[in-house]
Amino acid sequence: MTDQPAYPHVYFGDRWASRAEARVPVGSLAMRYGLSVFEGIRLYTPATGGLARPFLLAEHLDRMAASLRAMRFPDPGLSDLPGIIDELISRNAITQDAYVRVAATPLNAGTLAEAARPEWSVTATPMGRKQWLAKERAMALSISGWERGSAAVHPPAAKNIANYAGPRLAWLEAKDAGYDGCVLTNRHGRLSEAPTAALFLVSDGTLRTPALTEDVLPSITRAWVIRAARALGVAVEETALTRREAYRADEAFLCGTGLEFAPVASFDGHPCRFHELRPLTRQLIISYFQEVRTTDGPQVPTAARTARDSEQEVVHGTRGRR
Ligand SMILES: Cc1ncc(COP(=O)(O)O)c(C=O)c1O
Repeated sequence: MTDQPAYPHVYFGDRWASRAEARVPVGSLAMRYGLSVFEGIRLYTPATGGLARPFLLAEHLDRMAASLRAMRFPDPGLSDLPGIIDELISRNAITQDAYVRVAATPLNAGTLAEAARPEWSVTATPMGRKQWLAKERAMALSISGWERGSAAVHPPAAKNIANYAGPRLAWLEAKDAGYDGCVLTNRHGRLSEAPTAALFLVSDGTLRTPALTEDVLPSITRAWVIRAARALGVAVEETALTRREAYRADEAFLCGTGLEFAPVASFDGHPCRFHELRPLTRQLIISYFQEVRTTDGPQVPTAARTARDSEQEVVHGTRGRR
């Protein structure tokens, strides 16, 4: 996924350790039943340089709390996490954009009904822009027949590792068929999300995304996009969407913490109308990178700067560093 090695210092259980020491026992509930809830958190370096800082940390901690509750895990100490992440950044001297993975994993042994005793693992990996932003590529997506599990299969809001097994098969199938990835449908055959990212469509000037009741993870980037688009004066609807609405979209994109943004060129071979211009997608991407690089916390996106050079400057973090 990345060509740079992961950072060596990790927090595991209740202490700092090397990556080699952070091991999950083969008889643990985690290994036996696929139990481990996690958050992926982006670290961004401020425009002024220096150590990287977590973006939207409070939102990630809230969702971790919801995952723990949904999976009936006791809290391994959520209030310690901000300090652990700060120390992770300083121990590893992280001065470039990176990705922190926080997991609460039951390492205790037992059979199905054993009470889980989760332990933290907190690790970091260097992570810049993915190819979609780095190389300005747009994704050719399929709309998969594979379903995102409903609340009757598992709680969609619980970010537990086992929930990724089926979506992974959908992604592999899409790649084998020559697509860059896929959007999963839900039990009603409507659009839900990509295996690790939220979906947005733009048509007739309105930004639309599947509602949280459509079996999607409450994505933090999705919530950011909704806020940012409204601040830009764009109408936003959280609603039920069908594949036909994807086929007639003017623009579309996937978004998520790790992915950031990936414009969509087509769904099942149906090209998005503005698949090269993508005015709203571009504007949101610029607003996002302006905000993540701001030292004094979030700013309201105001700039409707669409020129290619300013986009490059903001997205690739070269602004203010020359
Ligand atoms: C299933 C799923 N949906 C959506 C997302 C995007 O969520 P977020 O923006 O909180 O990273 C992710 C990524 O974590 C995910 O795993």
